[in-house]
Amino acid sequence: MVEYLEKLWAKAENFYRDYYLEKGLGDPGFRLAQIKAEIDTKGTYWQTYAELEYGAKIAWRNSNRCIGRLFWKSLKVRDLRHINEEQDIFEAIVEHLHLASNQGKIRPYISIFRAEEPHLGKSIRLWNSQIIHYAGYEQSGQVLGDPAEIEFTKICQELGWQGAGTAFDILPLVIQMDEQRPKLFDIPPKAVLEVPLSHPEHAWFAQLGLKWYAVPLIADMVLEIGGLHYTCAPFNGWYMLTEIAARNLGDAHRYNLLPLIAKKLNLDTHSNQHLWKDRAMLELNIAVLHSFKSVGVSLVDHHTAAEQFIRFTAQEEQEGRQVQADWAWIVPPMSGSSMTVFHKNWDNEVLTPNYFYNTPIWKAATTAETSSKICPFHINSQKEMANQSKELELS
Ligand code: ARG
Repeated sequence: MVEYLEKLWAKAENFYRDYYLEKGLGDPGFRLAQIKAEIDTKGTYWQTYAELEYGAKIAWRNSNRCIGRLFWKSLKVRDLRHINEEQDIFEAIVEHLHLASNQGKIRPYISIFRAEEPHLGKSIRLWNSQIIHYAGYEQSGQVLGDPAEIEFTKICQELGWQGAGTAFDILPLVIQMDEQRPKLFDIPPKAVLEVPLSHPEHAWFAQLGLKWYAVPLIADMVLEIGGLHYTCAPFNGWYMLTEIAARNLGDAHRYNLLPLIAKKLNLDTHSNQHLWKDRAMLELNIAVLHSFKSVGVSLVDHHTAAEQFIRFTAQEEQEGRQVQADWAWIVPPMSGSSMTVFHKNWDNEVLTPNYFYNTPIWKAATTAETSSKICPFHINSQKEMANQSKELELS
């Protein structure tokens, strides 16, 4: 406990020094004294909206794996720390979807719910990886839908959810308040902007019945600002083309569409030397780009995104900050060497504020359940949370 508070205080101190310096706010001494007193009496402290907003934006700027960071200042920050009921969280998230979708002209938003208080066993968690994601069903060795969600789909089914059984069933939202049983909510179809996929030259493409959603709204990362952990802080940007076309639809362990597209293109798939995967991947990308553009939904192609990232790095250098970046994530998954980012190198130190991975609560729950027969919905105990707080620091 003492150790936890000491860490919280040390992190708060670092954050406020950086914040006051960067914003030219003078000496943070007075504010820090307030925070120290608050931590001593309550074991946590309350950040002002300005601090929260700055922290969330800097966390984006510090996201080493994100190629879209040129736009970090434009993040719209929703302060939802007063909310205390699952139903209200659900409604606020549906509203987030509307605000972010903006009829296709996607705007980056973050919705921040109250910070975790591990010493009191208080933590809000979304069990989903993204607010909108398609279910995956394993049926006699075959997969229908998104294989990345097979495990989580099973969990939802165990909690009483039933999908329609298509390749694009939107998973329900699973919200857990503190140590209570998680609650399930269906996302209203009206809140979900989706784009049917077609190809500008191949009419057969539309017949495949493929689609993807417009707003990638990450649900499972923890926003850390000044030592506080916002465990429920879903945020979105717009998609980069290759995330959908090369990875989600193309990866062999995801929708695995390259063999099908190649067949439709009458390519010879028997030898690598025909480069059928490369050709199929290119057509898949052409289709996704064409589809999003033709319905007016924001999406950035990888070449433009890579150029924007280079502008971001130049801007940062001008501000006297050294860019931290993860090369393997920044370089897009196709045509890498045709982009300047391929030929660069960056330090990859993880700064805070930042968005960190967290063990999905249902994974922690299922492992503990099998090993110690603890009810999976009550695993979220103080000890568990303290462990997770430790894990966060390592990632
Ligand atoms: N790669 C993830 C996906 O394909 C989304 C990650 C966030 N992406 C973004 N453009 N903000 O769903």
